[in-house]
Amino acid sequence: MHTNPRTYYLETFGCQMNVLDSQLVEGQLRELGMRRVDSARTADIILFNTCSVRQHAEDKVLSRLGRLKRLKQRRPGAIVGVIGCMAERRKEALFASVPHLDLLCGPGLLHRLPTLLEEVWDRHERVAALSGSQSRRIEVLQRSLENDEMEKLDLSRRPSPEDNVVQSYIRVQRGCDKFCTYCVVPFVRGPELSRPPAHILEEARMLADRGCREITLLGQTVNSYAYSENGRRVGLAQLLERVHAIDGIDRIRFVTSFPADWDEDIFRVVRGFPRVCPYLHIPAQSGSNRILKAMNRGYTVEEYLRLMDTAREYVPDIALAGDFIVGFCGETEEDFEATANLVRRVEYKGVFVFKYSPRPGTSAERAKTDDIPTDVKARRNNDLLAVQREISLRQKRAMIGQTVEVLVEGYSRPALRARAAEEAAQNPGAGAAAPMPTESGIHASVHQLTGRTPHDMIVVFDGDSSHIGALVNVRVDSVSPLTLLGQLTSVVSPRR
Ligand code: 5AD
Ligand code: SF4
Repeated sequence: MHTNPRTYYLETFGCQMNVLDSQLVEGQLRELGMRRVDSARTADIILFNTCSVRQHAEDKVLSRLGRLKRLKQRRPGAIVGVIGCMAERRKEALFASVPHLDLLCGPGLLHRLPTLLEEVWDRHERVAALSGSQSRRIEVLQRSLENDEMEKLDLSRRPSPEDNVVQSYIRVQRGCDKFCTYCVVPFVRGPELSRPPAHILEEARMLADRGCREITLLGQTVNSYAYSENGRRVGLAQLLERVHAIDGIDRIRFVTSFPADWDEDIFRVVRGFPRVCPYLHIPAQSGSNRILKAMNRGYTVEEYLRLMDTAREYVPDIALAGDFIVGFCGETEEDFEATANLVRRVEYKGVFVFKYSPRPGTSAERAKTDDIPTDVKARRNNDLLAVQREISLRQKRAMIGQTVEVLVEGYSRPALRARAAEEAAQNPGAGAAAPMPTESGIHASVHQLTGRTPHDMIVVFDGDSSHIGALVNVRVDSVSPLTLLGQLTSVVSPRR
């Protein structure tokens, strides 16, 4: 007879989809009567929800796993599991490299986790649930069966009272069909599939009932969302309209968009529906047509820029965000300069920059040479961030004196304020009312809170715990490239 596991430790790596998957996993573990602990040291079950998009993300998990070796010697009964994309990508080979690993579960089979845990617990054997299929067509068939189970898992979500649901994610799509040559996602998350609108709305209502005010609809290529409902197509625009009609939801976002096959209807909805935030995350990846072609992105720089211009025609103050990969195979200085020029031209609110990391199994890894030296990748990465930092700072300085609406998410890291105070000291005139740092360099006062504007700008200000979950007005008085700092002026609507 064994004693059932009581506690779990779960660490999440990677994207918002993984954050959501981890919430679903936690729901299942709670159902089994387990309690979360904040350290692997004492946990009966230790899980890593992993990312494979870059090698660096996998290396971090491998190093975490390495450190569990001694723990497992001391407590052989503890279960160590890798779930998510890295489990799917490395498959059983991961067992060979990590001898003290007990369990693998791919991102499309997380509904099987309770059964898997029971198997390890009862039989003391290693177990794996992986999609495992070689053929994509067979995989599609299998997935339509698995999908019912995964749908049940998404629909089973019941946040616990301690969960902060003010800002929540809802999956609208699984998988990806784009096969950008560098990307592992289509291999680990499988083919693109849009979830039924009724299910998405059911989740949105459930979350609204529990105090959620902001919903972010998630998909790898969220704008290609399409569901056939009695022969009629429901696209992302229609879906946004329906979510907009739900009482209690103050803000709606959607990420990540794919630039090709854009539907102008989406701009119409962003303009016409006040609770749909004026914020788009549309990765360009590169500003060079030659590189875009090598990446199989399916659009040109000119088409991308036209799309950005159209976005601004519909919604003049729209906030744009993008992702870029630097140092992709064969990227010359001219290609990189073209990317920097695109960043200057678009004037993003913010960009995410990544150094190219070859992923086994992708066509770039097979057919192209990773020929840009690490130091060149690092330099281009820094240079591109520097270009954006200037733009971000300029945009944010222009907001000093303005009042912004903030959905308060929680406490902030005090260091943020200290940094911005420094920044303001270096740029006198930028923030007349910049907070004075105390001796420690940190503004020591009531709680520092953080939240976001509809344009997805991060705001830090002083308030108290009653403001968490409220919509408030903050007057901006100083800035850093990533943050607006200001004073609370009024509560627009208290926490529900
Ligand atoms: N190397 C570096 N960055 C990558 N991304 C995806 N695959 C890779 C890779 N192999 C980046 C893209 C994507 C973001 C989520 O991660 O910019 O938009
Ligand atoms: Fe990867 Fe391209 Fe799909 Fe995005 S659109 S997940 S970059 S294959």
